[in-house]
Amino acid sequence: MNTLEAIYSRRSIRAFNGVQLTEEECKVILKAAYASPIGRAMYDTLSLTVITDRALIDRWEKQMQEEAGNPDLHPFYGAPTVILVSSVIGEGLMTNVNYSNAAIVVQNMAIAATEIGVGACHIWGAVRGLHGDDAVSKELKIPAGMVPCCAIALGHFDGEYAVREVQEDRIQTYFIR
Ligand SMILES: Cc1cc2nc3c(=O)[nH]c(=O)nc-3n(C[C@H](O)[C@H](O)[C@H](O)COP(=O)(O)O)c2cc1C
Repeated sequence: MNTLEAIYSRRSIRAFNGVQLTEEECKVILKAAYASPIGRAMYDTLSLTVITDRALIDRWEKQMQEEAGNPDLHPFYGAPTVILVSSVIGEGLMTNVNYSNAAIVVQNMAIAATEIGVGACHIWGAVRGLHGDDAVSKELKIPAGMVPCCAIALGHFDGEYAVREVQEDRIQTYFIR
């Protein structure tokens, strides 16, 4: 795939088949994260937590189910790997920059996953359920001073990516000429 093919083919994968990423696939996806543009190149404001311990992912899921009062909630869709992106958040303009950095890291990983045929889904919902003092947050050992911002669920899936028709009117767009 070239870059545009990967961008046009990417879609959220919400059904994983239980097959774990290989070490090589994980490395490619992490390298894409490290290649992300980061505001003022402040890479040390960010941290990645690569979770391949399915039992921990299950505990996180259970915590979400209890919080939402919904035992049918499966926010990770059975993904065998979740990569959590945490960041220092700061104040004022830096809040925007820091959250944006985290989102860009996830998006870079999603494009790389698409390129190599690994299923991926952006995960924000389950991250909102981490409050710092809860059991799962403690297990995740987020570095001091950082806040979990967002995550990506990764794993193999039945099926494949294919270039999708992109609806060109779905984001309102104004041109000022
Ligand atoms: C900031 C952001 C947060 C998202 N959070 C979630 C999430 O928590 N769970 C989920 O299943 N999908 C999540 N998604 C995926 C979107 O629902 C999805 O990208 C959108 O519906 C378009 O579908 P597509 O990714 O297949 O093109 C998120 C996407 C973004 C960009």
